[in-house]
Amino acid sequence: PSNPGIDIIDLEWLVKLAKTKNILVVVDNCFATPYLQQPIKLGADISIHSATKFIDGQGRTLGGIILGSNKLIKDIEGFARHSGPAMSPFNAWLLSKSLETLAVRMDRHCENALKVAEFLEAQPSIKKVRYPFLKSHPQYEIAKKQMKQGGGIVTLVIHGGVEAASTFMDKLKMFSISANLGDTRSIATHPATSTHSKLTEEQRLEVGIEQGTIRLSIGLEHIDDILKDITQALS
Ligand SMILES: Cc1ncc(COP(=O)(O)O)c(C=O)c1O
Repeated sequence: PSNPGIDIIDLEWLVKLAKTKNILVVVDNCFATPYLQQPIKLGADISIHSATKFIDGQGRTLGGIILGSNKLIKDIEGFARHSGPAMSPFNAWLLSKSLETLAVRMDRHCENALKVAEFLEAQPSIKKVRYPFLKSHPQYEIAKKQMKQGGGIVTLVIHGGVEAASTFMDKLKMFSISANLGDTRSIATHPATSTHSKLTEEQRLEVGIEQGTIRLSIGLEHIDDILKDITQALS
């Protein structure tokens, strides 16, 4: 899924197309995690993860992972070793411990996120909801084919633009307001004024980011608490 538009690209189709043009396929698999989607099995050349997100899963550390063939990784390894992005042993230990719980955490993130997406879809104040495993998602069939579950991120567009978005976010009590995602705790982000503020309005609209767009990273809290917070913030 793309960030924050939750567009799904058919990876098998993309790989076939790229091969005819001799182009490498690199997938940012951050939202899906290796538990939900494995791009290399679908033919991609490189799969990258911001391990800072769901892989750590607890907002504790920064890290990244690049997966690919020995041949491709050799070049990246040389660059990484000499230009700075080398992980400390402590961070590597934290992240390797986190991998032990990735599957159970993702099951809960996905279960909660699907319920949030379904709930939001039924709210009149919400213009649009994007979640890979919602039947209304335009690429639902592709998501079902290549992802095990829908992931922990739900993107919505609220009626009323930036004013309505900030009122909703200000009213949230349990959600954190941050540009981060993939934490145990639920997070709300307003992409147009934070993560994607450097794009022009036109560029944002091209990738589906409106002034009323809010990205929700659904945490591991009890679903009743999550829905209660969203309900009171929408009221
Ligand atoms: C989808 C996606 N890819 C990559 C990144 C980059 O992550 P990092 O800052 O850990 O390199 C982010 C983080 O914002 C992200 O959301």
